[in-house]
Amino acid sequence: MIDPASRPGTPAQVQLGDDGRLRHFIDIEGLPKALLTEILDTADSFRGVQEAQVKKVPLLRGKTVANLFFENSTRTRATFELAAKRLSADVLNLDIKTSSTAKGETLLDTLQNLEAMQADAFVVRHSDSGAAHFIASQVTPRVAIINAGDGRHAHPTQAMLDMLTIRRHKGDFSKLRVAIVGDILHSRVARSQILALNTLGAAEVRVVAPRTLLPVDVEALGCRVFTRLSEGLAGADVVIALRLQKERMDGALLPSESEFYRHYGLTRDSLAWAHPEAIVMHPGPINRGVEIESAVADGPRSVILDQVTNGIAVRMAVLSMAVSGQTREREQRRQESQV
Ligand code: CP
Repeated sequence: MIDPASRPGTPAQVQLGDDGRLRHFIDIEGLPKALLTEILDTADSFRGVQEAQVKKVPLLRGKTVANLFFENSTRTRATFELAAKRLSADVLNLDIKTSSTAKGETLLDTLQNLEAMQADAFVVRHSDSGAAHFIASQVTPRVAIINAGDGRHAHPTQAMLDMLTIRRHKGDFSKLRVAIVGDILHSRVARSQILALNTLGAAEVRVVAPRTLLPVDVEALGCRVFTRLSEGLAGADVVIALRLQKERMDGALLPSESEFYRHYGLTRDSLAWAHPEAIVMHPGPINRGVEIESAVADGPRSVILDQVTNGIAVRMAVLSMAVSGQTREREQRRQESQV
């Protein structure tokens, strides 16, 4: 765990430049609605690039994006790589398992070496909560840090691709009841989603889980808590299923997976409690028959693969905004030093 005392500035302060524009993207907490809306609008404009014959724009030509995944990933890593390439950036994928981290090199030393190679953005996934904030506040003043998931803390680009998916399917957030079902306790995705939904003005955010999988004081994030699936799903417009994150569980928090599925599984039967036009989402990876039935995951109300497609557009938006924010700040500092 990163020592919180070593972090100057809140994530919101670190993320925004003096002009209020994005320079790092670490956490949804503290970011204003206007900025989240700008990310969604920019991402929407990039959806067209994905459908074009030549899926490239020159916005980050000459820039270098380094993907540093200290934890496993399929969707986030692949879509960040595609996003950077579609913005015409050079992309460096550091294979942590075969890098000098395996010989004992510290995170900071690894990053300083990459900085010396003139990288413009680091996309970081790490098992320690606070890793991305620590890097942004301690390591470098000129590289954009994008959090690709840190411990149980935050997964802000996942939350934003989920918001884009919800907005494209359902429109106005102020009319929506959103139910997040599953392992809330260990989920960085749930925390970021709750913050984003509240900032964007969702009518109601619910979390649905057994008591053992709910964080203490989760209501303080801005959500209603339900321990019965029938009540949590009642009339919901958007249903988000989360997997059991066994890699972060310290002990037995559930009698068994089959027991969890019986009480909290998203099945054709349980989905009947939600609004008849409810959409079904899941950040992935999916565990079929544990938190979701295959017929629901692959069914007509599932937008799970749309989420993946929207991930490229959102990551293009965040990379382009943060790297141009850094470039603007560098130019401002250069001009000030000449006065
Ligand atoms: N949703 C998500 O973060 O998936 P990956 O772990 O595959 O990146």
